[in-house]
Amino acid sequence: MSFKRVVTALAVAIGIASSAASAAKELRLGLIVPGTHEWSQAAVAMGKDLEKKSEGKYSVTVFPAGQLGNEAQMLQQLQTGALDMAFMTVAEITNRVPDFGALFAPYLVRDVRESGLLLNGPTAQKMLGRLPREIGAVGVGYGGASMRLMLNAFPTNNVGDIKGRKMRITPFPPVRDFYQLLGAASTPMPVTDVYDSLANGQVDGIDADMELVWRMKFYERGKTLLYSSHMMFPVIGLVSGRVWQQLPPADRELISSTAKQHLNGLFDSYMQVEKEMLKNIQGTNVNVKVAGPEFFGDTLEKWEEIWLKRTPVLADLRKESAALRK
Ligand code: BEZ
Repeated sequence: MSFKRVVTALAVAIGIASSAASAAKELRLGLIVPGTHEWSQAAVAMGKDLEKKSEGKYSVTVFPAGQLGNEAQMLQQLQTGALDMAFMTVAEITNRVPDFGALFAPYLVRDVRESGLLLNGPTAQKMLGRLPREIGAVGVGYGGASMRLMLNAFPTNNVGDIKGRKMRITPFPPVRDFYQLLGAASTPMPVTDVYDSLANGQVDGIDADMELVWRMKFYERGKTLLYSSHMMFPVIGLVSGRVWQQLPPADRELISSTAKQHLNGLFDSYMQVEKEMLKNIQGTNVNVKVAGPEFFGDTLEKWEEIWLKRTPVLADLRKESAALRK
């Protein structure tokens, strides 16, 4: 081969390699929860799966524990395209699109498995379709967390015991209304501040879930675990609308189906995780009290009345969840 041909062949090879490299994309994904949390582990597993399925075209770098900011800040970054993806609490979405608040109706579902069925049903899926227009991000699917409960530093034998107590809540309207109706002083607080606040008496109790109580060691500061399963607490997979527009249709499909598969996997894994963590907590000094809807008396009806006026999708969700139980 002449020198000229060798140079030409090399130039072609370098060109091919560099265009493959420039087509490769690292997707940055943010979460508020720690790296040990099930959501973070699902994000890492999704990244590996996507890299394999796309033959290296896409990789995912996961930033847990609010490294990129709180959820409101991450949502802004998704809107500008500074962040590619997030696994975010639906609670945060509720602050922008109030209809999502209907997903937090008390006892809308009985357990995490049922929440998976409802969130993959027609009403919740239709709500996903509103996100590009209303928040500038594409919703690729829902996942779950263990059901909401309370960990209280005071004995909790009946609903009256909660009255007048300072209760930590995630800052969003459905849960704020729930605790106000219970007569508690709801104290909005990110999950990262909960341990210290419970330890120093800034709050008397917390609205949380079994995974947080065990993995973030909140049980060290509580007397009673009110195992009430009063709400679900979904997570949503989001892709920046700006990034989405630049993706070829086949890649959109690959990214959204892979993310959805791993998010949906959380519904099954939490059925197991919740049981395991409950067993762990039962081995501590915390008194576990099981409570159902009857524990809350007329609070549930009052909540429903307020939210049915605020968001009509609640009526559709109630119908769908009733049909799941037939
Ligand atoms: C909470 O605010 O309780 C929470 C936040 C993220 C994941 C799960 C729970």
